[in-house]
Amino acid sequence: MHPFQTSSACLLAIETSCDDTSVAVLQGHRVLSNVTYSQAIHEKYGGVVPELASREHDLKISLCLQEALQQANTKISDLDAIAVTQGPGLMGSLLVGLNFAKGLALQWNKPLMGIDHMDAHIYANFIEHPEISYPFLGLVVSGGHSRIIRVDAPFEEYILGETRDDAAGEAFDKSGKLLGLPYPAGPQMDRLSKDGDPSFLKLPIGLKNEGLDFSFSGLKTAVLYALEDAKKAHGEAYIQQHIADFCASISHAITEALVLKTQRALKQHTDIKSILLAGGVSANSMLRKKMHTLSNQFNLPLYYPALSYCTDNAAMIGITAQIKAKIMEYPSLNESLSLQAYARQTH
Ligand code: KG4
Ligand code: ZN
Repeated sequence: MHPFQTSSACLLAIETSCDDTSVAVLQGHRVLSNVTYSQAIHEKYGGVVPELASREHDLKISLCLQEALQQANTKISDLDAIAVTQGPGLMGSLLVGLNFAKGLALQWNKPLMGIDHMDAHIYANFIEHPEISYPFLGLVVSGGHSRIIRVDAPFEEYILGETRDDAAGEAFDKSGKLLGLPYPAGPQMDRLSKDGDPSFLKLPIGLKNEGLDFSFSGLKTAVLYALEDAKKAHGEAYIQQHIADFCASISHAITEALVLKTQRALKQHTDIKSILLAGGVSANSMLRKKMHTLSNQFNLPLYYPALSYCTDNAAMIGITAQIKAKIMEYPSLNESLSLQAYARQTH
């Protein structure tokens, strides 16, 4: 344990930035509860419908709060503070969580800290690994973002590369949709890939010879044409017969791009002490395997969060607030009540 890296406060954390309603209770870096309600309503639309997402958050947030307090065996009087996702995300969804948190802060007279969702994905690693040393390289890959960052100290971060179009999660979801898989296709592509041949279909790696940025939009188009050609040549049934091979080839192309750019960043930043994966796509088994090989090559420890802390969850908001509380004061109640949500990244 590294007691200096996180505050020991008892904290309630709330996350509603996209389509997961989540409430957690933390004591220091220990997660006492992490209750997440994932909205299934979007499946039939093949993507998140913002209006439906905020309505669902509104319907479920009180239940998640009750459940989180109960599971943690925590009373309101035990809580020292509240943390909530401030952005980036869907504005309507963010506002449900933020206003709910402001209501609690006012009613219970507790300070409220606003937390950046992308920071939280990275610091999720500290729940189980408070010993992680700086400077570290972070690969943040979710449904909305893909970036490589360098972090020199808590909240002292520099973006080294990011996607110019689709995020890695989007590349999984959109290619999966072309294969007829339900939204979000990432987890199912991962499962199916295990029985497939990654060299079945040769797919492009965006910006292969150029810098640290990613580009995944060409991949989606290449998959679309490859599927059309395959259907013409072999008939519709061929796609289903080779679904595992298609999934493995797509997963291979996406993960190769992520590994290639991470490797390039490591060659440029030779003082890096650890590699951290974060975001929903960090749950991907092919990515984890390739990243293990890469970290061995560079003789660096590799960290990724437990599966339940990879995708959107409130525990990651809580741990980020605990780390932040070590380096800055909690806001006053007045400052807490004037927190503003932001849809896009501000740093
Ligand atoms: O971080 P996250 O829960 O939400 C955002 O902030 O976007 O990430 C969700 C994304 C989705 O695109 C989903 O398909 C992808 O993460 N994902 C995966 C896996 N699990 C989730 N992609 C590939 N393999 C997985 N095992
Ligand atoms: Zn996320």
